[in-house]
Amino acid sequence: MIRFELMRAQHIDEILEIEKKCFPDDPWTRNMFESELGNKMSVFVCGIDEDSEKVAAYGGMWLIADLSEITNIAVDPAFQREGIGGRLLSLLINICRERKAAAVHLEVRDGNIPAVSMYEKFGFKRVGLRKKYYGGKHDAILMTKIL
Ligand SMILES: CC(C)(COP(=O)(O)OP(=O)(O)OC[C@H]1O[C@@H](n2cnc3c(N)ncnc32)[C@H](O)[C@@H]1OP(=O)(O)O)[C@@H](O)C(=O)NCCC(=O)NCCS
Repeated sequence: MIRFELMRAQHIDEILEIEKKCFPDDPWTRNMFESELGNKMSVFVCGIDEDSEKVAAYGGMWLIADLSEITNIAVDPAFQREGIGGRLLSLLINICRERKAAAVHLEVRDGNIPAVSMYEKFGFKRVGLRKKYYGGKHDAILMTKIL
């Protein structure tokens, strides 16, 4: 069973391990996760595996006025395709609704089929493309869900 809770400093070591597996080319650093903790605009959630009490997934966003931007979302490869990413995304969307956000935005690397499929399943639409956004090589697809 996975339970979701707000990210705390003690989760970051385990998050960094997953981050390296999920984004080997450009993982977020410890500093980046730590700065989310001190950022009032940020909502960052962890999924904890209740068997091991270890982090299995995490995701976060910024909420600014009535706009929201998902900044990161990842599921440990050992836990992928079990519905956890979808649960995490719907949790973030529900928080947006509670906070009266009008839309949720995100960027995803072109060719990231699992992520693009998940976002489309949850009603995100492609609204733009940023050429060579990731490492000067891969395009970013801009996606939006109107709430
Ligand atoms: C994208 C990611 C978060 C999905 O997490 P997950 O827990 O495996 O996803 P779920 O099991 O909840 O699946 C939800 C939906 O995502 C899509 N999906 C997930 N994995 C997929 C795959 N390998 N191929 C195609 N679609 C996939 C499907 O639409 C799926 O719905 P379905 O089960 O009804 O087919 C996960 O693959 C991941 O962490 N990837 C690496 C990090 C990453 O790319 N993050 C997104 C950055 S923008």
